[in-house]
Amino acid sequence: MTNQSDTFKKVISHAKEYGFVFQSSEIYDGLSAVYDYAQNGVELKRNIREYWWKAMVQMNDNIVGLDAAIFMHPTTWKASGHVDAFNDPLIDNKDSKKRYRADVLIEDYCAKIELKIEKEIKKAEKRFGENFDKNEFINTNGRVLAYQDKITAILSRMGRSLENEDLADVKALIQELEISDPLTGSKNWTDVKQFNLMFGTKLGANAESAMDLYLRPETAQGIFVNFLNVQKTGRMKIPFGIAQTGKAFRNEIVARQFIFRMREFEQMELQFFIKPGTQAKWYEHWKEARMKWHISLGMGTDNYRFHDHDKLAHYADAAADIEFKFPFGFKELEGIHSRTDFDLSQHQTYSGKKLQYFDHEENKNYTPYVLETSIGLDRMFLAVFSNALTEETLDNHTTRTVLKLPAVLAPIKAAILPLVKKDGLPEVAKTIFNDLKWDFNVVYDEKDAVGRRYRRQDAVGTPFCITVDHDTLEDKCVTIRNRDSMEQQRVKIDDIKAIIENKVAMKHWLKEL
Ligand code: GAP
Repeated sequence: MTNQSDTFKKVISHAKEYGFVFQSSEIYDGLSAVYDYAQNGVELKRNIREYWWKAMVQMNDNIVGLDAAIFMHPTTWKASGHVDAFNDPLIDNKDSKKRYRADVLIEDYCAKIELKIEKEIKKAEKRFGENFDKNEFINTNGRVLAYQDKITAILSRMGRSLENEDLADVKALIQELEISDPLTGSKNWTDVKQFNLMFGTKLGANAESAMDLYLRPETAQGIFVNFLNVQKTGRMKIPFGIAQTGKAFRNEIVARQFIFRMREFEQMELQFFIKPGTQAKWYEHWKEARMKWHISLGMGTDNYRFHDHDKLAHYADAAADIEFKFPFGFKELEGIHSRTDFDLSQHQTYSGKKLQYFDHEENKNYTPYVLETSIGLDRMFLAVFSNALTEETLDNHTTRTVLKLPAVLAPIKAAILPLVKKDGLPEVAKTIFNDLKWDFNVVYDEKDAVGRRYRRQDAVGTPFCITVDHDTLEDKCVTIRNRDSMEQQRVKIDDIKAIIENKVAMKHWLKEL
């Protein structure tokens, strides 16, 4: 645990120190679970968003984009079920007066059992050496099987109780497992209550006529209410999709883990409209397609896994998460939900407007089913950033901190560095900088010794450093240093653009999909 939390602390402090993420309104002591993206963070976030957008919208001729408003007619949220059912089960500790999500307390308890399984695996790995077969061990070892059975039993009981609104049983489960307040150890709990996560606000100038609104808790509904507008004006034929990225707001009870769980965050969602009865096929299709997108970034296949839901949201007939190995363990990164015709039918009922599709092949009208993929942009940022942060011990026993970001996502693609600040080298370096800036986000840096400048670029994840030295004046060549291998190559100035392009252009990465 200490190791995990140490790693996570380093992630948070590196994000601040190198201009990626700041606490919101820090000079006023910050606002809990609200964050600002700084000069490097905003670039990384933009690149992740663009990589998603191109993969979803540009690469699929049956998917189009949308940018719906954050404010929506309040009936939207009645129809979607959010007014009645967008709740988290909360529990208070009577001694510490701290508030927790009851389901998170139980899930954290299970995560501790998972750590025990991992320990058993590590021990066995050591004992059996090269002959170790991890899968066989997991499927046959008595202790591991008992741990797994325990996790399954706990999570399915919790799922059942939450589904049946049996909050007394959720409390009973917490008591039976002897779960205590993580901060104080107290087991003096209140009953479990439901808490609605939507933020309310008002539209209009005077108190009597003002309309109660909500800040949208998901971007999805902006797509559903525009389904027919897009379908008709875009002459879209089913199956087709509408993709959107944008802010969402949730009054999270347990707001912690940095940008993992925020009160204001950004989602990247696809709603894919399909013929009823084909949802199982499309569910598998999108699970596979989204996993491929993640794997294409080269962050290690072992860091991802699927988690099928026992407890389904009010709108879904099947759902799975893509989980990522964050510094605090495997947690949800993206959701893939088979939403049936729940949303369109609900909006049809509440608005009194027909939201149907005429299928020319079938010669009939129907309400399409929907397959949704929904990923948190900030959570993806955390996955990419925490996975990239590396401390290396070099041959000369010094250490370097390097952010091994996928080059396609790196905020700065290359730094142009004159070896010294004289003899005409800055002028040549600036010419190279001015030439490259049309194609890439590049920086020019002449301060400090070149070694220190390399370290600065390593720490923000710049894939290439280009050094202009005295020989450059003669041979029109520069030294190009690779961030990860630290290898240096002498290349012609005329070839720099192609070398960078080859490594960072989105099209090369998207071709892997
Ligand atoms: N439209 C479906 C929907 O919103 P969700 O599972 O509630 O589903 C989808 O959210 C994704 O949004 C999650 O997988 C997560 O990546 C991200 N997300 C949800 N709540 C978040 C929060 N409070 N802070 C950051 N990201 C969040």
